[in-house]
Parts: sequence; structure tokens; C-alpha cells
Amino acid sequence: MRNIRAKTFLLAGALGLLVLHLCKDFIDHKTIHLPIDVREGHSQLQQHATKTSYTFSWTRCQQNMSAANITGFSSLPGGIKDFLYYRHCRHFPMLMDLPDKCGGPDKSAEVFLLLVIKSSPVNYERREVLRKTWAKERLHNGVWIRRIFISGTMGTGFEKERLNKLLELEQQEYSDILQWDFSDTFYNLTLKQILFLEWMERNCPNARFLLNGDDDVFANTDNMVEYLQSLKDNDGSKHLFTGHLIQNVGPIRSSGSKYFIPVQIQESESYPPYCGGGGFLLSGYTALVIYHMSQSIAILPIDDVYMGMCLAKAGLAPVSHMGVKTAGLHIPSNALDGYDPCYYKDVLLVHRFLSANMYLMWHRIHDPNLKCGPSKKRLKEH
Ligand SMILES: *[C@@H]1O[C@H](CO)[C@@H](O)[C@H](O)[C@H]1NC(C)=O
Ligand SMILES: *[C@@H]1O[C@H](CO)[C@@H](O)[C@H](O)[C@H]1NC(C)=O
Ligand SMILES: *[C@@H]1O[C@H](CO)[C@@H](O)[C@H](O)[C@H]1NC(C)=O
Repeated sequence: MRNIRAKTFLLAGALGLLVLHLCKDFIDHKTIHLPIDVREGHSQLQQHATKTSYTFSWTRCQQNMSAANITGFSSLPGGIKDFLYYRHCRHFPMLMDLPDKCGGPDKSAEVFLLLVIKSSPVNYERREVLRKTWAKERLHNGVWIRRIFISGTMGTGFEKERLNKLLELEQQEYSDILQWDFSDTFYNLTLKQILFLEWMERNCPNARFLLNGDDDVFANTDNMVEYLQSLKDNDGSKHLFTGHLIQNVGPIRSSGSKYFIPVQIQESESYPPYCGGGGFLLSGYTALVIYHMSQSIAILPIDDVYMGMCLAKAGLAPVSHMGVKTAGLHIPSNALDGYDPCYYKDVLLVHRFLSANMYLMWHRIHDPNLKCGPSKKRLKEH
């Protein structure tokens, strides 16, 4: 009897310590990672947004030990195992927020094109060049373009702290980063996407259109605005999802592939139609529909396919836009310069550009003396 009471006492003590530990974790986060805008003490809205994100950190998402019971689990690659253990986790503490990026939810309709760029903490140079080229925040053709980089964390210990400090410094200068405390890996890109959409619903629900893309693409955002303005029957309040359309494909079952999806993650042999993740355009309406659909679809670690799944569930389809070249541009001959600005003047987006080429190309396509052959005005077609 006494033994049992002693055990109960010990158990209570241990629980107490655990609670204290969790509280410490919570307080550490508040003091170390307080978003810059909030530290400087601004509006009610910001305070509110911070509070919301810290509520999530209170119940840190636990590893699902039952995942190890799935048939064939032990023979899966490490990254896939890790994915299955944490597949259910959708909420992570926000380290950096921008609640006023769109002027608050009510004014967010004034944002015509929101550039949402996936960027890992180490990609500092890519962010720098985008800030002064296609992702520059500006008024174009009478409408506003705004920019947001979305990021997780990288590394552990000192390295993680150092990269977080880098992002904080960038945030102080540019106010263009949303960061959550999850590890910024390839398999977590879908999570990043969902966290962004959740943020959008809260802080920027009426943005007209979004470009969702990678930090290594060349995007002709001037052309994008002009294309979107040409959609006479859609001001962002109707469905639009367009880019490099991929159809009639399914999961890659060979474990060596970067895109390997074993049957333990998805049994079906086919994917719904989707647009290549390098960059696609969508309306604010469609972004919110995707977010709502995502609530009841298990995470698939390939973010662009997952977008297609959410669209399919809503009964919506992605369409192809011939100006989006996520598989690269076709240059007719080796004798021609692949970086001739005339090829890039009329496209919407081209995948894989080194920072230096990005900088140079953005300037060359804006050169008032640039002389090209008859411009192929095909952008308005799909
Ligand atoms: C895994 O399966 C075994 C056998 O069915 C079961 O006893 C155990 O509780 C399961 N483990 C978890 C963590 O679900
Ligand atoms: C944990 O994994 C098992 C096996 O895949 C699954 O049936 C269960 O729904 C998962 N639990 C959560 C909370 O996701
Ligand atoms: C995703 O991020 C969480 C939180 O940092 C981490 O525990 C998990 O391992 C990551 N998942 C993958 C598949 O990298």
C-alpha cells in the first residue's frame, strides 16, 4: 500500500516536472523567437496573430509510434520513415510573421499579385537577387505586387540559431519572410504550403492572384500581371489554376528516386492532373478552396501533386499555360544564345536560373533598346 502511494507520489512529481519543462519550452520560444514586428510592439492584429501561433507550440506534435507497425516499414528509406512518423503534424510555432503584409484582411483585395516563394534559410543569395528583380514589390499597370518568402528551419544547435538570425536580419530590412519551426526538407514542402495557406486565410484572404513558386525560377511578373488583367471574367474571385500541366502520371515506385512514393504512403497508381511546382498561378479563390480541401486529405510529401489532389477533391481542374516553362525553354538551335532576352520577354516563367543570370536577364528584357523579331503574342492563350 505504502509502495503504491510512493509510486503515485513519484508519478505526480514526474508529471509536474514535465509540465514545467513544457512551460519552459513555451517561454523560451516567446523570448528567443519573438517575431521582429511584435517585438517592436505594433498593432492588436499582430499581437493576436502571435498568440495564435504560440498556442500551437504548447502542444508540440508527437511522433506517431504506430507508423512503425505499417507492413514493410523497416525496409523503407529513412526519409520516408520520418515522413510517416510525422505525417499527421500540421501545426508548428511561427517564428516570423507578417500579419500586415497585405494591409490586413480587409484591405487585402488591394494586393493584385502575391508572390509566394518557397525558400530555405540558406538560400540568401537567391532571395537577394529576387528582391531586386522579378519579385520587387511594386505597382505595375496600376496594381500591386507583393512578395513573401516562406521558410522553415535548417540544421540544429548553433547552425540553426545562426540561420534563424540571418532570416531575422533580412526581415528587419525587407519584411518579407514567414518562418515556421519545422525542418525545411524536401518531404516537408507540402507542410510548408499548407501552413502558408492557413496564414493566407487569416491575413490575406482577398488577394486577387498568387504566384506560387521556387526561388530559382525566372518569372516575368510584368507579363503575369498583364495576363491576369486580361482575364475579363475573373478578378480572383473565381477558379484559376494554371502552369505547366502534368497528367496521366502516378507515383514513382523505385526507392532511389527523389520522388519515391511507396504504397505505404499512397496505394493508388495514379495522380490527378497537377501543375509542376516550379511555379504556377492561381486565384485567391482557388487558394482558399485548396486550403479547405487540404483539411481532410492526408499529406502527400510531393507538394505539387498534393495541390492537384486538393483541386480534384473540389471538382476543379488545373489548366496548362504555354508561357510556363518549368521544364526549360526550347531553344531551336545550339548556334543560338540560350540566354537571348528575346526568348524571355514573352514567357511567364522558366525554371532553374542562376542568380547572376537572373539579374542580367531581368535588366536585359527591360532594356528600352531591346530589338526582337515579331513578338509572339500567345500569352493570352492556354
Ligand atoms: C504495433 O502492433 C503490435 C501488434 O499488433 C501491438 O501490440 C502494438 O501495440 C502496436 N504498437 C503501436 C505503437 O501501435
Ligand atoms: C498513426 O499511424 C497509424 C498507422 O499508419 C494510422 O493508422 C494512425 O491513423 C496514425 N495516427 C495519427 C494520429 O495520425
Ligand atoms: C518535418 O518537420 C518536422 C518538424 O521539424 C520533423 O520532425 C520531420 O522530421 C520533418 N519531416 C521530414 C519528412 O523531413
